[in-house]
Amino acid sequence: MGGRYPHMLLILILLHGANAAVDEPVQKWQTLDGNPPLVIARGGFSGLFPESSPAAYQFAMATGLPEVVLYCDLQLSSDGIGICRSGLKLDKSTLISEVFPKRDKTYKLGNEDVHGWFLLDFTADELLNNVTVTQTILSRPSTFDGIMGMFTLDHVKALNPQTIWINVEYGKFYADHNLNIEDYLLKLPKDFPIAYISSPDVSFLKSIGGKFKGKTKIILRSLWENATEPTLVKSYGDIMNDLNIIKPIVSGILVPKHFIWPTNKDDYLLPSTSLVKDAHALGLEVHASGFANDNFASYNYTHDPAMEYLQYIDNPDFCVDGVLTDFTPTASGAIACLAHTKENALLPTAKPLLATENGERPLIITHNGASGVFSGCTDLAYQQAVRDGADIIDCSVRMSQDGVAFCLGSADLTTSTTAATTFMTKVVTVSEIQNKSGIFSFDLSWSEIETLKPDLNGPYAQVGLKRNPAAKNAGKLLTLPGFLDLAKTSNVSGILIEIEDAPYLATRGLGLVDAVCSALVNASYDKESNQQRVLIQSDDSSVLSVFKKFPKFERVLVIDPVISDASKPSVDEIKELAHSVMVSRGSLVRVHGFFLAGFTDLVQKIHDANLTLHVGVLKNEFMNIGFDYFADPTVEIVTYYTALVTDGIVTEFPATAAAYFKSPCSDLTKNLSYTILSANPGGLERMVPPGALPPALPPAPVLEPSDVIDPPLPPVSVSSPPESTPKADDEASSASSNAGNCLLVAGIAAFLYLSSH
Ligand SMILES: *[C@@H]1O[C@H](CO)[C@@H](O)[C@H](O)[C@H]1NC(C)=O
Ligand SMILES: *[C@@H]1O[C@H](CO)[C@@H](O)[C@H](O)[C@H]1NC(C)=O
Ligand SMILES: *[C@@H]1O[C@H](CO)[C@@H](O)[C@H](O)[C@H]1NC(C)=O
Ligand SMILES: *[C@@H]1O[C@H](CO)[C@@H](O)[C@H](O)[C@H]1NC(C)=O
Ligand SMILES: *[C@@H]1O[C@H](CO)[C@@H](O)[C@H](O)[C@H]1NC(C)=O
Ligand SMILES: *[C@@H]1O[C@H](CO)[C@@H](O)[C@H](O)[C@H]1NC(C)=O
Ligand SMILES: *[C@@H]1O[C@H](CO)[C@@H](O)[C@H](O)[C@H]1NC(C)=O
Ligand SMILES: *[C@@H]1O[C@H](CO)[C@@H](O)[C@H](O)[C@H]1NC(C)=O
Repeated sequence: MGGRYPHMLLILILLHGANAAVDEPVQKWQTLDGNPPLVIARGGFSGLFPESSPAAYQFAMATGLPEVVLYCDLQLSSDGIGICRSGLKLDKSTLISEVFPKRDKTYKLGNEDVHGWFLLDFTADELLNNVTVTQTILSRPSTFDGIMGMFTLDHVKALNPQTIWINVEYGKFYADHNLNIEDYLLKLPKDFPIAYISSPDVSFLKSIGGKFKGKTKIILRSLWENATEPTLVKSYGDIMNDLNIIKPIVSGILVPKHFIWPTNKDDYLLPSTSLVKDAHALGLEVHASGFANDNFASYNYTHDPAMEYLQYIDNPDFCVDGVLTDFTPTASGAIACLAHTKENALLPTAKPLLATENGERPLIITHNGASGVFSGCTDLAYQQAVRDGADIIDCSVRMSQDGVAFCLGSADLTTSTTAATTFMTKVVTVSEIQNKSGIFSFDLSWSEIETLKPDLNGPYAQVGLKRNPAAKNAGKLLTLPGFLDLAKTSNVSGILIEIEDAPYLATRGLGLVDAVCSALVNASYDKESNQQRVLIQSDDSSVLSVFKKFPKFERVLVIDPVISDASKPSVDEIKELAHSVMVSRGSLVRVHGFFLAGFTDLVQKIHDANLTLHVGVLKNEFMNIGFDYFADPTVEIVTYYTALVTDGIVTEFPATAAAYFKSPCSDLTKNLSYTILSANPGGLERMVPPGALPPALPPAPVLEPSDVIDPPLPPVSVSSPPESTPKADDEASSASSNAGNCLLVAGIAAFLYLSSH
């Protein structure tokens, strides 16, 4: 195997190791035996690599809990060798139809004719020497297709896992064709670590259960509730409602997760069923299946896959005994790090203006409040952010036509309000603000804006990943003084006020900077007696300069374009101007194709100048999170915390960050047997066969002083007729130019997890 698939040799050296145990927290689990629930890796780490491939199993062991269970869907070759592969038809998950184009067959399965390529028509040699496996799910990398062979049960054992789980899905089909899986299992050497055998077929379980002595547990794998179990001639739904029928035969059940936490038709969670408690009362284990970071899950989980596991393992009433998952590390992290930590305190942050040191964590800064849960900048989004544990809540200040300052993520009201339904006549193009047309706050009075409803969509709504649709139009927009009132009476450690488009607004007679200054002063935020921090953030150096007169305020320069480095003179300029910089995610990493190739030195450069660095914007949706982060928002956070050592993370989902920083795994002084690790850039890239990735893009530009320094702010006065032409006059557009316009935007798009690649 190794000879034919040399890439695989790299795997074990790619991953950082985890330390052995010392500081293990003692926890109580409501599992049947009181032990932590099992992580059962379905075909290995099949969320990343083709299911049941060598890399999938090796990565499951390398990224999972030490006691991770390797799950093998067992089938037999014509010469009786056990091979792990799910699905009866090989052509769905391998390239067999290209290698053996004429060896397809049609078999009867129940009353149906099934056509395809079947494992039992090939010898193990034919399969192992010629057939490579592929990813079957579109949201996962196809990069590893066709480079790895099939894996036998013996191969799985050779990895030395503590535990193997065998699922036999098609026992009767094989028996009908003179291949007896039961005999095969009975003949396995005694040292085979098979702890679980599952099947949807009760007669198979009955038979093997009688013969398989020892520690192996027999598990009924339930299909959908409406499917019929052939032996009992009852639906699986009915069997699950009357577990006494199967109690004499099995030690437990493996059920689709919605049998435990059902959802309503709108994909919100309903109260749990009593299945786990009922089964535990009878002494039966309950394992839940169907977990994957790139599946759509209920809205209650706010697109955070860890929250879904916690619902099953850390609720007041019960804990399942195992989770069958395609994403081993996320399940492992939920169990070893995140469970039973809700009541913990957050790790401390660095003192204002100081870089984050050992034992300290980055600030959790919101982006338009908890805008992943409620429409951005509404009272509800800010209240949620406070509840979720944000340190700093933010207001991007906009101006109405009549000079009222209020909070909203964009000057274009159509992006997160219902303006398009009521103010179509106000659609214009203002090229100083954005290229596409919009309805702009400065063209509507505050009383008009107040009539608008918020409109929560989220960046991936069009591909089906909506945000909290039940609250789509909930909440109300806040004026800047309203926001300050809310912040003052909350326990956040500070506020961030973002100022954009000030030069353009000045030409419209709107003094944004003055409005911010007077609101902050009026609310006593300039006084040392006000304990909350004030961060003033802008991409405009002239705006930040104005705030130098407030010694208490911390100034944050936004570096909009993706950069790969910052020249010494540009950092010197920043130091004159600001205490911190805010950069996009793409400025901290180098990408190649869909993979992380490395980290840039930007954080180090910024820290060397005694400046701090914030990174953003983090969003939970898996499409926003690269493969190297395992489609897991927590792994991305851990990377900015432990590997890149940033001082702040700007996120639309503060709860996800806070959950991690309450976990013992975020305390890096602890010596834990398992912890959530940073992404390892280059790790996956190195496994890609030569030529399979597009050529690396040239590095993003280096920041220069001219990118940092903007022209002075123009006086506040109406210089041109409002409703001005779509074609901007060059004068105004250069006045509003900022660091953003000088550099090319590069890279980050390639970084996204595209469902359609
Ligand atoms: C962590 O624990 C392991 C095993 O007990 C021990 O060998 C190692 O020295 C410990 N490391 C630290 C930093 O305490
Ligand atoms: C399958 O592999 C064997 C051994 O490498 C080789 O001799 C045979 O030609 C291959 N068959 C096909 C159809 O490629
Ligand atoms: C069982 O239910 C599922 C989901 O509700 C449905 O897609 C499927 O067609 C049903 N199957 C049968 C045999 O009724
Ligand atoms: C799920 O969210 C809905 C809507 O917010 C809420 O009514 C329901 O109680 C939540 N369910 C659970 C189990 O938390
Ligand atoms: C702040 O208060 C909210 C309730 O209003 C609470 O849920 C949250 O844990 C508190 N945060 C901190 C850091 O104390
Ligand atoms: C606006 O369009 C111009 C020309 O098509 C382009 O160069 C520029 O980057 C665009 N600006 C923004 C903010 O999208
Ligand atoms: C100043 O603050 C008070 C409350 O502290 C508020 O009633 C008033 O409207 C504020 N004025 C301005 C101009 O923001
Ligand atoms: C950063 O701060 C340290 C200690 O406050 C000081 O010794 C050092 O000279 C400063 N470095 C720069 C580049 O300002």
